[in-house]
Amino acid sequence: MSSTVPASRLVVLPSAAWASTVASELADRLARRPSLRLCLPTGDTPTPFYAELVAGERRGAWSLAGATVVLLDEWLGLPPGDPARCDVRLRGELFDLLASPPAFVPIAVDGADVDEPATALDTAASGLDLAVVGLGMNGHVGFNEPGTRPEDRSRVVRLARSSREAATARYGAGAVPSGGVTIGLATILEAGEVWLLVTGERKAGILRQALEEPEGIDCPASYLRRHPRLTVFADEAAASGLRAS
Ligand code: PGA
Repeated sequence: MSSTVPASRLVVLPSAAWASTVASELADRLARRPSLRLCLPTGDTPTPFYAELVAGERRGAWSLAGATVVLLDEWLGLPPGDPARCDVRLRGELFDLLASPPAFVPIAVDGADVDEPATALDTAASGLDLAVVGLGMNGHVGFNEPGTRPEDRSRVVRLARSSREAATARYGAGAVPSGGVTIGLATILEAGEVWLLVTGERKAGILRQALEEPEGIDCPASYLRRHPRLTVFADEAAASGLRAS
């Protein structure tokens, strides 16, 4: 049913060209549909892509002003403004740097009802034109950790302690997050198009598993192969373990 990703949907780029190419592709989608609805991830992978989006807007090459961006995932239990929060990071790396930012739909995690933000997120993320996601070292997509099924919708997830502590170690969070909220795999698979962003040699093994080994819950990213319009944007280092390369 889900075979290896055809080479035509695997875009392997020199590291120096990766971010500008992904930005140009997004500009192409925006040119065709200025009111594009998409989700965006946070993490180290997309940071250079966001820098390119900012640079392109400054030189007048494109505008994100008509688009709507839904946040892919968010920690639970971090206070508003915490530097580890995904909304803070996306604002700091992208929206605050754009002269004309898109509409932004963060995940409303600050209320008392922990399930409410997941319901609102699933509504906001339903029928996206484009789902842009990164690849975790354990095969996760958003906070769809190993064990996720492809029919899982947006929801509150209990993260492994190691994942929660990574937020404090990596991003300087003021507290250990209690969990997360993520756009679900099913919701991602309903988007018109899916982009998987992967860079760096350390992702070579998990990218090979995601694209070339049998799909399964131990690697949630493997289910992305079910999408008819998946594009994998990998740099040469990340793609170095692929048979296709
Ligand atoms: P990274 O994270 O881009 O920081 O490697 C990706 C992820 O964990 O989804």
